[in-house]
Amino acid sequence: MKIYRDSDPEVSPALIQSKKIAIIGYGNQGHAHALNLRDSGVGELVIALRAGSKSREVVTAAGFKIMGLEEAAAWADITMLLTPDEGLGDLYEDVLKDNLKSGAAIGFAHGLAIRFGMVKPRDDLDVIMVAPKGPGRTLRALYLDNLGMPTLIAVEQDVSGIAKSLAISYAAALGAGRAGIIESSFAEECETDLFTEQAVLCGGMPALVRAAFEILVERGYTPEVAYIECLHELKQVVDLMWEGGLEHMDMAISNTAEFGGYRAGEKLVTPALRKKMEEILDDVQSGKFVKEFLADTKAGHPYLEKNRERDRSHEIERAGKTIRALMPWLGDQAKK
Ligand SMILES: NC(=O)c1ccc[n+]([C@@H]2O[C@H](COP(=O)([O-])OP(=O)(O)OC[C@H]3O[C@@H](n4cnc5c(N)ncnc54)[C@H](OP(=O)(O)O)[C@@H]3O)[C@@H](O)[C@H]2O)c1
Repeated sequence: MKIYRDSDPEVSPALIQSKKIAIIGYGNQGHAHALNLRDSGVGELVIALRAGSKSREVVTAAGFKIMGLEEAAAWADITMLLTPDEGLGDLYEDVLKDNLKSGAAIGFAHGLAIRFGMVKPRDDLDVIMVAPKGPGRTLRALYLDNLGMPTLIAVEQDVSGIAKSLAISYAAALGAGRAGIIESSFAEECETDLFTEQAVLCGGMPALVRAAFEILVERGYTPEVAYIECLHELKQVVDLMWEGGLEHMDMAISNTAEFGGYRAGEKLVTPALRKKMEEILDDVQSGKFVKEFLADTKAGHPYLEKNRERDRSHEIERAGKTIRALMPWLGDQAKK
């Protein structure tokens, strides 16, 4: 595995500074990429928005030049596709394919659209991935603190002969070289990302939190106390694992918590549960998951909406509002 850092001679924003960059979308990733690139000295940078975009005002307020999608694709040396994954196939086919200039590069922050063939790039384009491993707002906050976010890079097509250098330079301009710019592939990034967000980060962990909260409340405990135990404290434990790994966490918690944790972990992660996790990875690798996701998108997201409503109206949300109101400093990072 190759990891590049700012101290390596290849890692410099200079190459990207010499290119015209169009960022499509000004959402979670788009705003962070745009602001970090500009602060890293990228001068020729535009934000490409669709007609009637609700992001127009905030992009203008941030001082960026706005272009239409077709115009930006024809102008840019590198077009970064930072809009929701489920729409990337149509965006490429309907707007970009016939407008990107010959020899240009397109870039992604996630491997999905290439791994599952939603975007089939023209042969004359460089195709790169620069995938920061975390939310856009954290990417921006770290940059402002002179820190960086580990970022995976990959090259799918290298027509220019410098596609990898473009990816490294773009990642450097995001500030990633302060942490690590890690060589990977579209497939590895996509499959590991989908599996872990489903099995652990956005699937397994929130489902455990909900279930534990429900059990405590059903047994008559106070919802606000249950919220603190199940959700609020989660961050403190995750922070320990994040700072120094499992051993570091084991040393920082009480023997009671550690003993109970091992005992409960054995009860929960049984061979049957591991099999379920394997099935989740199978569904990712086979494309079954992506097929279901795209079908839900086509139908107007009924599955997403049903589950969003379930979360919105869950009692843990009401209890959480009460507790979070006691700590107005929560979320300060988001204001940066
Ligand atoms: N969320 C994260 O922080 C994160 C982390 C790592 C990687 N990624 C990857 O980064 C990419 C972008 O994800 P995201 O969460 O940043 O997206 P997002 O916040 O949902 O993107 C919203 C932006 O995309 C624009 N947009 C939506 N559909 C569009 C279309 N059909 N044509 C043109 N513009 C369109 C929106 O424009 P309007 O203002 O007009 O609505 C808005 O500016 C994805 O590949 C994702 O997997 C995301």
